[in-house]
Amino acid sequence: MNQTIKKYPAMTGFGHARPARSVSNDELSRFMETSDEWIRSRTGIERRNISETEDTEKLAEQAARAAIEDAGIDIQKIGLIVCATITSANRSPSTACLVQKALGLNDNQTFAFDISAACSGFLFGLRTADAMMQSGDIEAALVIGAENLSKFIDWSDRSTAVIFADGAGAAVLTKSGSRPLVHFSRTAGDDEGTIRIKARGPQPFGPGPVTDPAGFIEMNGGDTFKFAVSAMEESVRQVLDTAGCTVGDIDWIVPHQANSRIIGAVTRRMRLPKDRVYINIDRWGNTSAASIPIALSEMRESGKLADGDRIILTGFGAGFSWGAALAEIGTRASASETAGARVSESDGPEAAGPEGSDTIHD
Ligand code: ACO
Repeated sequence: MNQTIKKYPAMTGFGHARPARSVSNDELSRFMETSDEWIRSRTGIERRNISETEDTEKLAEQAARAAIEDAGIDIQKIGLIVCATITSANRSPSTACLVQKALGLNDNQTFAFDISAACSGFLFGLRTADAMMQSGDIEAALVIGAENLSKFIDWSDRSTAVIFADGAGAAVLTKSGSRPLVHFSRTAGDDEGTIRIKARGPQPFGPGPVTDPAGFIEMNGGDTFKFAVSAMEESVRQVLDTAGCTVGDIDWIVPHQANSRIIGAVTRRMRLPKDRVYINIDRWGNTSAASIPIALSEMRESGKLADGDRIILTGFGAGFSWGAALAEIGTRASASETAGARVSESDGPEAAGPEGSDTIHD
């Protein structure tokens, strides 16, 4: 007998893209008054990648292709592409539309758009895709975080130049989870420029003269640090409360990789188990909206993420923006096929069953 079990949008495939050029702390210290020791001890960063030829769209496309392959789905099933970025090569068209074309989905019934929410962009994109999948006929969605932050760095500003970097990560969502995603999202407009990029053209990598100071990343590091710790703590507590869970129910906590000291402070204050808090900032630097999906993709690659795992993603960024998601890793296409006819995906709220069809949020 066929039994229809409600399935919810869940991340089921992951991918990432890393620019070819690796830049060590020592390389930065050759043209900037800093040192490997200072950068490691104050941020946790050992190296990062800086794009020379790879634009935001290219990085996003590579990450998306890898995520689709990991999910094991037919690319034509992608009905929605959301790209979180603050470093798009163009104001228009969106990076997401260019990825749609690059993936050969222009003649598909796919639609695509970008989200600007700085380092919270992937979380906000995930919530958007989740809601759209639940309310419409979208079978699979791509949520991408892609950044080319190095093009917006004033290489004489050592407090930002040592932190930010380039890369992209992507996740495929299919209706393959047994529980709804739980979201917490907040913003509070900041016109003080605590973290800001004013609009302008790109500045080349290296110690050359600053041609247009407007448009570079500006940051009050101390204020950002304090905001970050309380924002991530609040966000993690909110999704746990909403879901009625404790940290003990969670397999992994994947924070935005802004600074290892920020992650350490949240871990200590919340007494999180250190061995279940994923950190890769040492190898990547801060890649803003890309940092969480890059971490997820690395975890998948190294066998740390299994179908059915429950994870918390949390981040904060300019805006201000902050939030978290409590997510279950979905069952990949090949695995759900072997599960046979007992489990079938439902598309509409009518199939919701007693648990209802809603995404849970605060
Ligand atoms: N190398 C050497 N010295 C440095 C450097 C550097 N790269 N940068 C700053 N310093 C100096 C400062 O000039 C200062 O010197 P002084 O005492 O002589 O004035 C000293 O180091 C201490 O400076 P602080 O700013 O107090 O250093 P702090 O320990 O706070 O570290 C940092 C600075 C790393 C920026 C930290 O504040 C931080 O990580 N803040 C959060 C940043 C963050 O998370 N940003 C991401 C936002 S995400 C987004 O939305 C894009």
